[in-house]
Amino acid sequence: MKTTTGPEEKQLSLFDIVPEKSPEASAIKGSVFSDPAFASNKSLPIHRWVPWIAGFSSDFVKQALRTYLNGEGPVLDPFAGVGTTLVEAVLSGYNAIGFEINPYAAMACRVKLEASCVDRNILKTEILKLGYFYRDKFSSGFVPKTMPPEGFRTRADFYSPKVLYKVLIIQDFIATIQDHSIKDIFMLVFAATMVSYSNYSYEPSLARRVSSGKQEIIDFPVFDIFTAKLTEILQDITWFQTKIIDDKVSGLMIYEYQSR
Ligand SMILES: C[S@@+](CC[C@H](N)C(=O)[O-])C[C@H]1O[C@@H](n2cnc3c(N)ncnc32)[C@H](O)[C@@H]1O
Repeated sequence: MKTTTGPEEKQLSLFDIVPEKSPEASAIKGSVFSDPAFASNKSLPIHRWVPWIAGFSSDFVKQALRTYLNGEGPVLDPFAGVGTTLVEAVLSGYNAIGFEINPYAAMACRVKLEASCVDRNILKTEILKLGYFYRDKFSSGFVPKTMPPEGFRTRADFYSPKVLYKVLIIQDFIATIQDHSIKDIFMLVFAATMVSYSNYSYEPSLARRVSSGKQEIIDFPVFDIFTAKLTEILQDITWFQTKIIDDKVSGLMIYEYQSR
């Protein structure tokens, strides 16, 4: 009896979907499709909010949406990461739905997508209030109420004492924020900057600075880097909200995330 085997399993690439000799294929070769990495996002509004290795480049996503969707949505990203695809989908006028298992990435994703409805006046006010709070507490020898998380154990102290003190004052302030979207932005700013003033660094996974020949960070202008990031986010939210009005992009955004 003659036996047949099924077609060999093979991972599809964009060149399999688009015939090699079609005009689309020539446009794709030498285009952003040949470099789908996240690095270029580091300087782009919204995408630049958090450092992240495993993400798509926004140009790659934009071009994929333009090439394959023809205005037909919604866009579903079952592995949403920090939301590059979802953000680009919304900016291109699609409704977007995403799932993400990593709570940090899911939060980054949600905060980015909620940027369209954030009240910028409340954000500005909270940034100003942080300034007053921080300067007042730092100069008065205040004892922060926030404690470092109990289960968080590292081989060496994550922060030097001076840095930890500054971090805890900022955490105390975050605890006072009533508006949930604004509080999430502050939490995201902490998540995005926390390693840069710690005694660890991305190598590319988290490792002690001394193990990679870098000096320990004894002290650091934590407040300055924190407010610089907040200001960047405020600027990007203004850009996002203006773009949504000017380009009449999707009004309804659906985003779900799954955390452990
Ligand atoms: C390459 S990244 C996604 C990039 C993203 N699509 C973008 O637009 O930049 C893959 C993501 O899948 C997530 N992931 C892995 N397994 C998952 C699961 N079972 N459910 C949801 N998310 C998952 C990972 O946490 C990771 O953030």
